[in-house]
Amino acid sequence: MRTLKRPGRRQEASGGGETFARSGRTLRRMSHWHDPRQAATWDRVAAESPSRGVQLELLLAVLERFAPTSVLEVGVGSGLVAERVLERLPEARLVGVDDAAPMLDLARTRLDRFGDRVTLVRGDLRRAEAIELGPDAFAAAYSVQTLHHLPDPAKEDVFRWLGRTLPRDALFLLRDKATVVPSLFDAYVTVWERLRVEMPPTAPELAGSLAAKGDDPASLADQLGWLDAAGFDTGVLHAEAHYALVAARRR
Ligand SMILES: C[S@@+](CC[C@H](N)C(=O)[O-])C[C@H]1O[C@@H](n2cnc3c(N)ncnc32)[C@H](O)[C@@H]1O
Repeated sequence: MRTLKRPGRRQEASGGGETFARSGRTLRRMSHWHDPRQAATWDRVAAESPSRGVQLELLLAVLERFAPTSVLEVGVGSGLVAERVLERLPEARLVGVDDAAPMLDLARTRLDRFGDRVTLVRGDLRRAEAIELGPDAFAAAYSVQTLHHLPDPAKEDVFRWLGRTLPRDALFLLRDKATVVPSLFDAYVTVWERLRVEMPPTAPELAGSLAAKGDDPASLADQLGWLDAAGFDTGVLHAEAHYALVAARRR
């Protein structure tokens, strides 16, 4: 496996977390990516998110259908998704970008068996242009539960960077959380109850909890608009409560 050095200055990434109640078990997800213990906790509990399993399986199936041989992951984390992508696309090479050394350490161990099919790059998505991706021309890229950690202008910048980085016809898949519309809070509660997801009981408390975690999701409409402006055709493949899987194709 190749590891490229991260260009530019190191900056702390914001954390993120949610509380899930699954099978009577409550898991507190507070992830401060630069803390090795929090990174290890995320790595253990990530699979417990109710809609993550469904949406990741769809993401993998779409990637399989397009069969790209060179893939970029934006926010590779501990390599949980990358491992499945590399298993499902045996011909593919993958470049994974992340800013947190403890997450990249976990990814390095997890993905070691794929040898030189994997390149891990340390880079801050808030300065995406400075990230050195190497020579690969990516036929596909994806990002899972990462961009909601960035402020909106940085999210837009990442989409613009992807628009410049990905060639015509390249596929981009985005699985992330979106804003919970406050006036529709009770409608979301109905879905969370069915999913057995434990969330703050009111819209202001949810807003406070997101702010405390450093989460900054954007509305789905904004994300689609920014992708369109960056040169992508977009479609929503799956949405469940505040999580969506978006497909985008470079025009
Ligand atoms: C919830 S984890 C998701 C990891 C992986 N995509 C997955 O689904 O298993 C979010 C990741 O985003 C990364 N991240 C957050 N802010 C970042 C930034 N500004 N630059 C690069 N990576 C960032 C964190 O380090 C963390 O690894």
